[in-house]
Formats: sequence, C-alpha cells, structure tokens
Amino acid sequence: MFEELPVPVLVAPMAGGPTTPELVAAVAGAGGSGFLAAGYLTADALAKLIARTRELMDRPFGVNLFVPGPESGVDLSPYVRRIEEEARHYEVQPGDPRWEDDAYPAKVDLVVEQGIPFVSFTFGLPSASDVRRLHEAGSKVIVTVTTPEEAVQAAEVGADALCVQGSEAGGHRGLFADDPAHPAGGEVYGLLALVRLIGSAVDLPLIAAGGLVHGADVAAVLAAGADAAQLGTAFLRADEAGTQPAHRTALAEGGRVTAVTRAFSGRPARALVNRFLTEHSPYAPSAYPQVHHLTKPVRAAAHRAGDPEGVNLWGGQTYSIAPEGPASEIVARLAREARAAQERLTRRLG
Ligand SMILES: Cc1cc2nc3c(=O)[nH]c(=O)nc-3n(C[C@H](O)[C@H](O)[C@H](O)COP(=O)(O)O)c2cc1C
Repeated sequence: MFEELPVPVLVAPMAGGPTTPELVAAVAGAGGSGFLAAGYLTADALAKLIARTRELMDRPFGVNLFVPGPESGVDLSPYVRRIEEEARHYEVQPGDPRWEDDAYPAKVDLVVEQGIPFVSFTFGLPSASDVRRLHEAGSKVIVTVTTPEEAVQAAEVGADALCVQGSEAGGHRGLFADDPAHPAGGEVYGLLALVRLIGSAVDLPLIAAGGLVHGADVAAVLAAGADAAQLGTAFLRADEAGTQPAHRTALAEGGRVTAVTRAFSGRPARALVNRFLTEHSPYAPSAYPQVHHLTKPVRAAAHRAGDPEGVNLWGGQTYSIAPEGPASEIVARLAREARAAQERLTRRLG
C-alpha cells in the first residue's frame, strides 16, 4: 500500500496542533507521507486543513479520526473538585466535563466527499457501512490497533491496513476500550512483539508506530514485517510542527521520564512526567472526553503562562533523542540511517 513511497515514513496525526498541513507537505515532499489530525476539530476546520494541504502539494495524504466511545457512567465529582483547585491556581474556570462525539459523523461525511486517499481511525472501529462508503470514494481505510484481538476485529470490518501502536508511543493509546481496572487501559505490548503477533494473526499491510526515532528503528520494523513506519514524537520539534512552546522546551530539555496517564483527558496517554501528571494520575477516572473538556482551560492557561508543569506533554519513550530542524532533513536522515542499518545487517548476516 505504501510501496510507491520513496521513504516508508509517515508523520503521525497529532491532534491539538502539532501536525500541520505544512508538516505533512514537507514530509511528503521528502518522499514520505502523513496524516492530518481531525481530532478536536469541527468538520469546517478540518475542511480548511485539507484545502490548505492540497494547496501545498498534490501528493496523497491521510486524515485521522477519533472514533467516539460510549459515555462513561463514572462519578466525575471527586475529579472535578481536584481540577477546580488547578483552575484556581491558573485563575481560570474548569471546563464543562461533557461527553460528545467530536463531530465524528460530519467528519466521516467530509472525508468521503473529499476522497481522501488514506483515512485512519483511532480509539475504535469504523462501522462496516462507513468502510464501504470510504472504499466507494477510493479511500484506503486504516485502523489503529494495540492488541492482536483488535487487529482481528479491524480485519473483519474491512480495514485495508492496520496501524500497529506499541506501548512506547507518545500521546493517546488507540485502545478500542479503556479498561479502568488497568493503569494503561489494557494489555501493554512493545512494538516489535505486537508487529510479530499481529503479523501472525491477520494478513494485512502494517504500519508500525511507537518510539521510532532513528532510521535504524524504521529498518527494524520493516525487517519485522511492517510496510511503513509512523512517527509522531520524532517530528514534534520539526520546524513545520505546530507544537506549543512549553511542550517544545520540555522535549528539548529532556531529563523527564514518560508515563501513561488519564489525568489530562480521561484516556490513557503517554506524556513526559510533570507536576499535573504526578498529582492527578492516581485519581483520574476513565472518562473520555469528559476529562479532556474539564482540564482544557487549565492546560490552555498553563500554555499561556509557558508553564510545562500544567500541560499535557505528550511524548513517546524515545523523546529525548528526537531531533529538531526542517522536516525534510529529518526524513532524509531517517532514510540514510535506515540504509546504513540495512548495510550493517547485510555485512553481519550476508
Ligand atoms: C502529540 C501527539 C499527539 C497525537 N495525536 C494523535 C491523534 O490525533 N491521532 C492518532 O491516531 N494518534 C495520535 N498520536 C499517536 C501517534 O499516532 C503515534 O501512535 C505515536 O506518535 C507513535 O509514537 P512516537 O510518538 O513515539 O513516535 C499522537 C502522538 C503524539 C506524540
């Protein structure tokens, strides 16, 4: 499916600002491709990003959608009280902890109308009828999976490829359902193990994601059977990324470990550890997107204040060795490093 790409590197959809049309176009211009992030956007805002991407280039690209889950019945009031204290600290009002569907149906209609070449889904499965509509529109359908069981379900609804997300990954885990009894929402698989297990369970092209930051990592997942590598954190400090200053600075400074937390959004996600994560993770309920809406004004105020201790510093486990600079240079370096890794293997194995 990605055979025609000169460099099998995809920039991950990173909702909330980091993945811009400029970033996708720069990666595509350097021989890769990527996904616009539709999460948190209205259909109109997404339409503008698609139009801008098409102004910048005429190469194929993707759009990523958050599949809405059921409304959690958990009592949010104890967590609301904690976030009220945070809000006082940053002198804002907490957000309304409402459930909503992220304008999902309207955004599915939009990507069908627009004939987007690659449409990926995370947090769940698209319906079989939406998969059919996308196929009729000429789109390839990709589903993010974090376990072999999810991979089998995605194959059953007619996915054309899977994005296999290892536990190293930055940002939200793509789990179909967040198990509140589990700190990470469900079984945790490292990327190589998951590519191997899923490759034995289903016969679909695989995109590997999670902790890939060097061309040798790209070569490793291709050697393990993946068709392409999807990198998020490796592009967070790219010139074209829309990453906010407090986030960029924390990534550049290093020195923090990462952890999976529901504290910011109510769904397990990997972030650099900061004060907010440390204080609230043990109490954070499984309630997405209610917790996302609740904490949003606090995170926005912390961003305005340039305070990294109050924002969701999404990042994968290898963030401290992620580069900065123009995205085209990052892609060119990944390609050089992948070829060097291949030559090393050839020398070693013949
Ligand atoms: C800041 C950030 C935002 C993300 N937003 C999304 C998103 O909107 N949709 C999605 O499918 N994955 C999202 N992800 C996860 C990526 O698709 C991918 O799985 C992850 O970046 C891979 O791990 P890495 O960050 O170590 O490269 C996000 C990751 C990061 C770091």
